[in-house]
Amino acid sequence: MEIGSFFEFPDYENVKETNSALYNIKTGYGSNFNSIFVGDGRQAIKAVLLNFISELKDKKIYLPSYLCGSILQPFKELSLKFDFYGHTHPLRPNINFSLKNSLIYIIDYFGTEVLSNKEIEELSENNLIILDITHSIFNKKRFKIKSENVIMVASLRKIFPIPDGGVIYCKNFININKCKYNKYIKMLEAMFLKKYYITNNNENLKEYFLELYKNYEKLKDHSIIKIFDIPPISLEILQNLNINKLLSKRKENLNYFYNNLNNEVIKPLFEKTKVESPFFMPILFKNEKIRETYRKKLIEFKIYPPIHWELPNDVPRKFRYEHELSKNILSLPIDQRYGLKEMKCIVNLLNRKYW
Ligand SMILES: Cc1ncc(COP(=O)(O)O)c(C=O)c1O
Repeated sequence: MEIGSFFEFPDYENVKETNSALYNIKTGYGSNFNSIFVGDGRQAIKAVLLNFISELKDKKIYLPSYLCGSILQPFKELSLKFDFYGHTHPLRPNINFSLKNSLIYIIDYFGTEVLSNKEIEELSENNLIILDITHSIFNKKRFKIKSENVIMVASLRKIFPIPDGGVIYCKNFININKCKYNKYIKMLEAMFLKKYYITNNNENLKEYFLELYKNYEKLKDHSIIKIFDIPPISLEILQNLNINKLLSKRKENLNYFYNNLNNEVIKPLFEKTKVESPFFMPILFKNEKIRETYRKKLIEFKIYPPIHWELPNDVPRKFRYEHELSKNILSLPIDQRYGLKEMKCIVNLLNRKYW
């Protein structure tokens, strides 16, 4: 058994159109947002920035000090100057509500609502807001936001088993020039090989698909972002996934952690009731050394929990809370591939004392 890391090619299900992930994502759960599919999350961000590029020269840009490098990538490529804002525990943005004429990037971390719809609408009266719903794509409430100044973006490939995919939700027309060709085939190959490895226990393939996967991520991180259409295979996969089943599986897995994790050096980052859309289960360790001890133990048992995130060097050291969080955090996989058997296995390891 192996738990975590990138998605293998999924099994298809017989899904009624209105229950499919594709239908619900495309229509924004039947909301009045327009959706535009692109190749990944950073492409979605870049497309939005390009659309507003002339206005942005006169705006101040505020980014959260807890973020990953791929979010910064489009801002840097377009030579846009930005400042960071901080957070109070647990990751509540410390934003001045009297800001005007700014672009504010907000991330709904781990499926929580870091600000309420009302607060976001209030901020959007005098500012442009990009709300990143990568972690909270299942939170239907976000699609009730009324303001035209709120644009939502998400990396779909982080949540769904697709080689590439991202989406933009907006109320007004956004001008995007999409390129035709995309290099996602290498990632698709990695997903197929991983599926074969899991089904047939073929250890020889592991090194090969991991290499393909790592190279694909490197390519994204080290080349200039071009805006592509979402691959047709991603649309097909999404059409064959039942979004309700996927969500209930994630909820069940998340609940298992909340009900069974029991170790004095570990605590969930968020209260259970704050999670509107299950992404990973973020937990905090007493310190980095203990986190690393547990992380290594999990890896020994072929459980691969990511760290969301190692902060980029651009985030100044004065954001002590965010840097500290990044050292102590670990994300436990709870996605639709797994059930109680896998969750039990993780909890059994985490509830032991290794320090
Ligand atoms: C919250 C969030 N937004 C955007 C991105 C960028 O997505 P992509 O890697 O698909 O470009 C990521 C990637 O990790 C993310 O976690």
